Amino acid sequence: MTYYSNFGSSGVHKTTSKHNGDVIACHKCGGYKVVNHVGRMSRGRRKLLMYGLIVGIFLLLVYKMRTCPEPEPQTMFMMPKDKFVTDENMKVYTYDRNMPLIFIGGVPRSGTTLMRAMLDAHPDVRCGQETRVVPRILQMRNHWYKSSKESLRLKEAGVSEEVINSAVASFILEVIARHGVPAPRLCNKDPLALKSMDYLKVLFPNAKYIFMVRDGRATVHSIISRRVTITGFDLNSYRQCLEKWDDAITVMYKNCLKVGSGYCLMVYYEQLVLRPRTTLTKILNFLDIPWNETVLHHNEMINKPGGIALSMVERSSDQVVRPLYQEALTKWVGQIPDDVVSDMANIAPMLTVLGYDPAGNPPIYGIPEDEQQQHQQQQYDTISSGDEKQTTSTINSRR
Ligand SMILES: *[C@@H]1O[C@H](CO)[C@@H](O)[C@H](O)[C@H]1NC(C)=O
Repeated sequence: MTYYSNFGSSGVHKTTSKHNGDVIACHKCGGYKVVNHVGRMSRGRRKLLMYGLIVGIFLLLVYKMRTCPEPEPQTMFMMPKDKFVTDENMKVYTYDRNMPLIFIGGVPRSGTTLMRAMLDAHPDVRCGQETRVVPRILQMRNHWYKSSKESLRLKEAGVSEEVINSAVASFILEVIARHGVPAPRLCNKDPLALKSMDYLKVLFPNAKYIFMVRDGRATVHSIISRRVTITGFDLNSYRQCLEKWDDAITVMYKNCLKVGSGYCLMVYYEQLVLRPRTTLTKILNFLDIPWNETVLHHNEMINKPGGIALSMVERSSDQVVRPLYQEALTKWVGQIPDDVVSDMANIAPMLTVLGYDPAGNPPIYGIPEDEQQQHQQQQYDTISSGDEKQTTSTINSRR
């Protein structure tokens, strides 16, 4: 037996052997190997075998090069492992930035909780409670790019926009995917996040947005009467709050037009309440979700498995436990100071843009669907018979 090794410092040494051996280059092992010939061969046969081997090795190399090409250095990048969550039956749900997420938003007190409760009632959708951290991370990221000095520092540190986007997207996705039960369609409702709709579109190219719109006078009346604190809103001034409403909804409205009607749907709260079947049919079509009657009976799905999880500290929780009701539409009438009412068109020009008559006190919001009218009548009957007290105490006892 003869051994040749490539471990030696000065190349290959041939040692003598009793056996007849040939050395051939072995590309696979990075050195050389010995081919032992058993018995005697003719010169011609040996030559033939040599050529055969060389051709064979050549073919093997060509094959290897074709099947496993060397990775090119410039295409090397870090990849997260697959992300997934499992439900109680250990069914696996994967999630990534390209999934068709649903974002519900608008100015707070515009029916965003009702909207998400209706979608939560659908077996395919899970929205869940407000996460609170999604709009905050979006705000932080805005802040980093407000100062050109800071964005230069980030760039010089290798923290490119792509890196930031990837990190912010992961943060948002983790929170959305893991703060509730898994579902085929994940949804998020943090009202003010829709101010960043255009940026969310960059992070999640296939996400869709439901932009809740409500008469600003009703929204502001609700904010003030319920003492809902929102940064920048002065709860002592209808005029100032209406101006702030106008600012916030202007940003969202522009963003909605920017991402386009394929991705952003404006949903009027008044229409959702007066014509729920028509409006929800449109919404589910927009989201590519099959119709299910459960969305019309959201109050029956509260705290049920696969239904609606409510936060005990969210302002709107006590309202969505009730079936749909219309009396909230005009509660603001007579509550706003006269000087503000007479100057409404100037204080809140978005009212006119969105189709609300600034001189109407109240304006005409529309005609209820037939089935909704019957439903309201039934509800009125049950409320008079004292059933409503029970519903209210259910939520109160949870607080
Ligand atoms: C509607 O949802 C209910 C409750 O999750 C489910 O049992 C039912 O199969 C759904 N119906 C349709 C038509 O998908």
